Amino acid sequence: MAVRSTKPIYLVVATTLSPSSGIGYNGSLPWKRIKKDMDFFKAVTTATSPPVPDGVLQHGKALNAVIMGKKTWDSVPRPYKPLSDRINVVVSRTGHRDLAREIEEQLNTGQKESDRPWKTVNDDKVSILKVKHAEGLDDHLTDDVAAHPIMTCQSISAALDYLENRRKGREINPLRNVFCIGGQQIYELFLNDNQLRPRCKILQTEIRKFDGPDFPIDTYFPIGLSETQSSHVQELPREEVTSELNVDLPQGDAEWTRAAATDLEGKTCRVELRVRSWQVVAS
Ligand SMILES: NC(=O)c1ccc[n+]([C@@H]2O[C@H](COP(=O)([O-])OP(=O)(O)OC[C@H]3O[C@@H](n4cnc5c(N)ncnc54)[C@H](OP(=O)(O)O)[C@@H]3O)[C@@H](O)[C@H]2O)c1
Repeated sequence: MAVRSTKPIYLVVATTLSPSSGIGYNGSLPWKRIKKDMDFFKAVTTATSPPVPDGVLQHGKALNAVIMGKKTWDSVPRPYKPLSDRINVVVSRTGHRDLAREIEEQLNTGQKESDRPWKTVNDDKVSILKVKHAEGLDDHLTDDVAAHPIMTCQSISAALDYLENRRKGREINPLRNVFCIGGQQIYELFLNDNQLRPRCKILQTEIRKFDGPDFPIDTYFPIGLSETQSSHVQELPREEVTSELNVDLPQGDAEWTRAAATDLEGKTCRVELRVRSWQVVAS
């Protein structure tokens, strides 16, 4: 068993206020678009902390990893796949080799046969999808998962072992933060794991819709996110999150800000958002 980091792992989630803790519907988000939240998600998951001093990295840059379930991967629209500037880790019970082959096929579809940019490299417990242009670099520079943006694996422990124990001194893209970005089943894996649970922090965007009916929901965040509802979480000081993630949180805890949204039928609607952060309490 590899030695594990004790660094926090943030579970990033957008939940509906009503019904409480809703996160998904019919394999996608319950809404079509909330730009403000998408921008926040991207800012949080791409900001690296601690920053690497200028000139230290000659060929790469520090990166975060985002771990997601296969259904969440499937829900990401094709133009956004893989999520840019992040190591995308996809977890599935399907063998990692088969899953990598499936993703390789998805990403190469529509490309000229001679120009299939994605190629899979299989390791013992994970597979890595690699873009061909990285091949021009020296071997030791490409011998790093972070140089390749997608990794498939059959368990979160295989993913974490691989990410956290890469050979030192050979990283062109040092790993910074690890995020779990859902969905429900993968949040549950982190929250139910005795070793990982104490490392889990939650960054929640709460979404309150205030015209028309509630967003439709069939998938939920697994635990209640409120100190009065749940003995599983304690609210985190904003400064702790800001300094750990190197990102500004958009507003004070109790304040809601308005945002434009589009529902699943494409109609515009009005929502308010607020960001809260939580430490998961060991139980
Ligand atoms: N609001 C938000 O912030 C947010 C964030 C993320 C997702 N979502 C929504 O949540 C929904 C998806 O959530 P979900 O819970 O249905 O799916 P999910 O967690 O994204 O993925 C589930 C899949 O993960 C794999 N898996 C589950 N347990 C596993 C284990 N122990 N070991 C290895 N692999 C395992 C399985 O893949 P295989 O079937 O391939 O084996 C399973 O089908 C969608 O509606 C999505 O849009 C919302």
